[in-house]
Amino acid sequence: MPQNAQTNRRIVLAQRPKGAPDANTLRMDTTAIPSPGPGQMLLRSAYLSLDPYMRGRMNDAKSYAEPVAIGGVMTGQVVAEVMLSNLDAFTPGDYVLAGNGWQDYALSDGVDVLNLGPNPANPSWALGIMGMPGYTAYAGLLKIAEPQPGETVVVAAATGPVGATVGQIAKIKGCRVVGIAGGPEKCAHVVDVLGFDACIDHKAPDFAAQLKAACPSGIDVYFENVGGKVLYAVLPLLNAFARIPVCGVVSWYNLPGLLDGPDMGPAIMGTILRMKVKMQGFIIFDSFPRSLYAEFARDMTGWLQAGKMHYTEQMIDGLEAAPQAFYDLLEGRSFGKMVVKV
Ligand SMILES: NC(=O)c1ccc[n+]([C@@H]2O[C@H](COP(=O)([O-])OP(=O)(O)OC[C@H]3O[C@@H](n4cnc5c(N)ncnc54)[C@H](OP(=O)(O)O)[C@@H]3O)[C@@H](O)[C@H]2O)c1
Repeated sequence: MPQNAQTNRRIVLAQRPKGAPDANTLRMDTTAIPSPGPGQMLLRSAYLSLDPYMRGRMNDAKSYAEPVAIGGVMTGQVVAEVMLSNLDAFTPGDYVLAGNGWQDYALSDGVDVLNLGPNPANPSWALGIMGMPGYTAYAGLLKIAEPQPGETVVVAAATGPVGATVGQIAKIKGCRVVGIAGGPEKCAHVVDVLGFDACIDHKAPDFAAQLKAACPSGIDVYFENVGGKVLYAVLPLLNAFARIPVCGVVSWYNLPGLLDGPDMGPAIMGTILRMKVKMQGFIIFDSFPRSLYAEFARDMTGWLQAGKMHYTEQMIDGLEAAPQAFYDLLEGRSFGKMVVKV
């Protein structure tokens, strides 16, 4: 059933996955479209963002945010159109950035909702390069890693919205940039389109040796997106006083428990100690002052207008396709920023 004016389609959490989510994890149901009361507006989703953090919301575990309840609508940011409004600051026809989750319609009181106006150019970009992922790359790289010209910056998930942006900003700042991505097609894009100096396929059998060859002066900044074997290959290449902004560890998000195999704790902590590494985790909207967002928006707009920043979206058609697209995203079967055209 496509989006319509009679019912609200919702994707809800049916059961908590153990390991990778599957066909039993999410299900679609329908409810009535709610009516806005005083101080409320009705929003209709146009674009839904799919992001790796959503996997964490499926777990009932301590985190920086509450898990989604069983039967609850999956968390997610949308670009939505205002349909009805009892709020002075929002008019029917305006587009907004809001946390409506995976559903067609939602009520909002306007709190934490960004008004994009009636005719925004590239509205879906508010979910990617001009929104949370772009800001994450900007703040994590520039405020935690503070890359200097000539330094070597390494980032994995290099075709994704965070990694692609990290690498391009690092190039703007005069660094040597080495991307890591899954497969030759993604790696070619990273070098030929995004302009990184090199890109290594983490699926190659000699991945660690290739990474070493691509970083002849060692690694000064490792922007951590994935963890796992990429982290282990980076460790011996880190230079003294290297910086590691810990943004995400997507290769471990589907782990049902502890890893089998050797305990890597001593190698990780020993390297941090001996190489005097600064390693800092961050959650984008908790870790930086709100004022930084305006700085990001100004710089990113300038880079896009100057043609210094390339942005790729993978547009998924229809809310019903969102669950499988999300599972694909976690397994590396995405290319660019995944957005659902609801
Ligand atoms: N801290 C924060 O506030 C914050 C905010 C936004 C995002 N994040 C994190 O930033 C990271 C990137 O986010 P994104 O939205 O840009 O994701 P993304 O790149 O669109 O998707 C994740 C990518 O991770 C790669 N990947 C998956 N499994 C892997 C594995 N086993 N080894 C190596 N790479 C693997 C895949 O790319 P390949 O096929 O190229 O390997 C996949 O496409 C995620 O960890 C996310 O959770 C954190």
